[in-house]
Amino acid sequence: MPNGCPLSGRKRHERRGTSRMIRSVVRGFGAALPKRVMTNAEMEQVVDTSDDWIVQRSGIRQRYIAGEGETTASLGEQAARAALANAGMTPDDLDLIIVATSTPDNTFPATAVNIQNRLGMHHGFAFDVQAVCTGFVYAVTTADAYIRGGLAKRVLVIGAETFSRILNWTDRTTCVLFGDGAGALILEAGEGTGANTDRGVLTASLRSDGSHKDKLYVDGGPSTTGTVGVLHMAGREVFKHAVGMITDVIQAAFDATGTTPDDLDWLVPHQANRRIIDGSAKKLGIAPEKVVVTVDLHGNTSAASIPLALAVAAGDGRIKKGDLVMLEAMGGGFTWGAVLLRW
Ligand SMILES: CC(C)(COP(=O)(O)OP(=O)(O)OC[C@H]1O[C@@H](n2cnc3c(N)ncnc32)[C@H](O)[C@@H]1OP(=O)(O)O)[C@@H](O)C(=O)NCCC(=O)NCCS
Repeated sequence: MPNGCPLSGRKRHERRGTSRMIRSVVRGFGAALPKRVMTNAEMEQVVDTSDDWIVQRSGIRQRYIAGEGETTASLGEQAARAALANAGMTPDDLDLIIVATSTPDNTFPATAVNIQNRLGMHHGFAFDVQAVCTGFVYAVTTADAYIRGGLAKRVLVIGAETFSRILNWTDRTTCVLFGDGAGALILEAGEGTGANTDRGVLTASLRSDGSHKDKLYVDGGPSTTGTVGVLHMAGREVFKHAVGMITDVIQAAFDATGTTPDDLDWLVPHQANRRIIDGSAKKLGIAPEKVVVTVDLHGNTSAASIPLALAVAAGDGRIKKGDLVMLEAMGGGFTWGAVLLRW
């Protein structure tokens, strides 16, 4: 510690918590999955692959695939209704809906507005954010900015995807890795003191770098091909960057709050790949028992993976009120980011 600095980083942050401030506090969570489960054994019937290869390389054992009538908006609506019930709220209580998705029902209007209408909500406002697998981290950060800026009091944040509809089902290097689903959180303005002991979002660290575009992208779009396109990924290239990028933003969130891996109760990572999750936790010194893993059950559901994992771990009682929780993700763009919150 340099001379003249009377407090360590930790103490300095605790001391700082004396003024009143608005915090975005989690009031409810929910999730929804398509009816159809597709196991690795079924995947063996579609492409030249094996359960062993998929489990060893990714940790995935099964994924859910949307059927007829199941869409990003319908799954998002189900997750939203579950989150509202969990919070003891109705759509009338909300004033903003943010949906993170890369697989919207339509190019426009936004899936968030579609879900707003499905919920029978005709006040307030709604919009989508698009940051691929980092979408939910971006959406929670956006919701927090609206709440702290006084523009909204109760925000429904949804991550919802139907990646099965943008996969090339003859490309074994990608189609075995992704799945469909949706998850939601309700954030409400609460009063905090500015200390790390406050409930709610404590800090966020967001990044993007478009020079990595060609490593993970969809080869279509309204303004280029006029088609939806299919997903392409240079898996090994993505893998090479993932751990470093993830650990950088997590460390930034620790540094901004003066917290450490020891203070953390739960790491809830984007569920892309077990090896990336384990590698990131290990590099940061986060104990394996603090890491929520659902990639085995859901596969990579892009922006839906974090809220799905939160719903599993809060639903089974692991994540409890007052727990310190780190969310992190990395995805196409590249985009990457972390949010530290107290549940
Ligand atoms: C995709 C990923 C699992 C592939 O694992 P890998 O160890 O890098 O594997 P490689 O791409 O080097 O391929 C190794 C071999 O497996 C083969 N292979 C690829 N997909 C296969 C599959 N589904 N089943 C069986 N074999 C497969 C390859 O053809 C290659 O064979 P070869 O050596 O004869 O050419 C890995 O790169 C990864 O996890 N990347 C990150 C992906 C990710 O998380 N993306 C989402 C970010 S949001």
